[in-house]
Amino acid sequence: MSRSAHPAGPRHADVLPEGHYSAPPADLNTLDGKVWAQTVTRNADGVLTVGGVDVVSLAEQHGTPAYILDEADFRGRARAWRTAFGNDADVFYAGKAFLSRAVVRWLHEEGLNLDVCSGGELTTALSAGMPADRIAFHGNNKSTEEIRRAVESGVGRIVLDSFQEIVRVAHIAQSLGKRQRVQIRITVGVEAHTHEFIATAHEDQKFGIPLADGQAAEAVRRALQLDGLELIGIHSHIGSQIFDMSGFEVAAHRVVGLLKVIRDEHGVELPEIDLGGGLGIAYTSDDDPREPHEIAKALTEIVTRECEAARLSTPRISVEPGRAIVGPTAFTLYQVGTVKPLDGLRTYVSVDGGMSDNIRTALYDAEYSVALVSRASDAEPMLARVVGKHCESGDIVVKDAFLPSDLAPGDLIAVPATGAYCRSMASNYNHVLRPPVVVVHEGESRVVVRRETEEDLLRLDVG
Ligand code: LLP
Repeated sequence: MSRSAHPAGPRHADVLPEGHYSAPPADLNTLDGKVWAQTVTRNADGVLTVGGVDVVSLAEQHGTPAYILDEADFRGRARAWRTAFGNDADVFYAGKAFLSRAVVRWLHEEGLNLDVCSGGELTTALSAGMPADRIAFHGNNKSTEEIRRAVESGVGRIVLDSFQEIVRVAHIAQSLGKRQRVQIRITVGVEAHTHEFIATAHEDQKFGIPLADGQAAEAVRRALQLDGLELIGIHSHIGSQIFDMSGFEVAAHRVVGLLKVIRDEHGVELPEIDLGGGLGIAYTSDDDPREPHEIAKALTEIVTRECEAARLSTPRISVEPGRAIVGPTAFTLYQVGTVKPLDGLRTYVSVDGGMSDNIRTALYDAEYSVALVSRASDAEPMLARVVGKHCESGDIVVKDAFLPSDLAPGDLIAVPATGAYCRSMASNYNHVLRPPVVVVHEGESRVVVRRETEEDLLRLDVG
């Protein structure tokens, strides 16, 4: 007989309300390797361990909520991307997914390059020793100050995003007596199968220069005329959390089409093409992401085939995975504060964080998994909604998931696959403090981004 904390709570499949979930899993204690960091397992007491450290000790030592990041997994994924693309291609990790100095050092050691999109990310990268020539600088509205710092520090490439920026970067480079290597970001008109806010290659949005109406060709024309610029290639990023490779296929076809137009008009074969990031990861057991070697093979074949058809020599390819490297390597560890069963609906489980440490559910209707991790339980599954402590009813971390019905205040639960776009998009809403990032590796844990303190908040409040 299971210990039920609240027998009135909705638990059985025949009383489940409408929602976005499959049937409860046969065993809630099983951790699906698809969504959890690689070294995650349960010890003999049923406590989740990662990197050889159990979550009860992690909570005692570092508090909750906390992002727990598996270093071996991060390095393994970074290396897998690097190896998959080999020496004829470049892998730029997209720092916006999550950036810290420890991450920059790992990337450097594993032979990856880095994509940054603000002065802050550039400073972090340089301060951790990433060589400037392995950095790409992105953004649709880089300030002149950011451009100056990027050019001065010698970044390997700046990705130009507008006609104004072509002139701005050329000017700044020239005034510094430099010739800046640049790519032009174009929008290829692809509808990526993902949430509207993270699709970036359809024409009606702020990024890039449209291929349509010959605008991209005109941008190339202008860039080639400016002494301060060395145009090395064309860039396309079609969106994020994408599983279907057909969008990349269309994008590659159109980018190569532009390379051909450039060759025919200017007699120049641009040496590089960047296909951006965007590869999806598993947030729930229903997601089936591709392995880096499959992606590398597919992208390389597409580009090679398109170039052969256009009688162009195959350019050097670069890719910019963010989520696919860091996403699965971390989970968020929370402590349960309250458990509130609503008859005929679901049980609301409140944790000590929320939309300030994971805005993705509220912003994109993102789906997540969750598990009780401080112990195993054989209680019946109950349909739960994991919510935060913020003053909003939309403050939802996991919309619909099954947790054991004996869940009680004080239990630790964890939400996997929060390595990407959670800490990097965290806020101080309600003056809630941003959680630390704790790295686990070979039986040790260490803080790489510390928890915010109330003093931090007051330090910024100078009124
Ligand atoms: N390259 C460029 C030019 C990008 O804009 C992005 C992401 C990436 C690479 C990396 O994409 P990834 O491989 O991580 O999908 N906050 C949203 C995602 C926004 C992505 C922005 N650009 C989310 O939480 O889903």
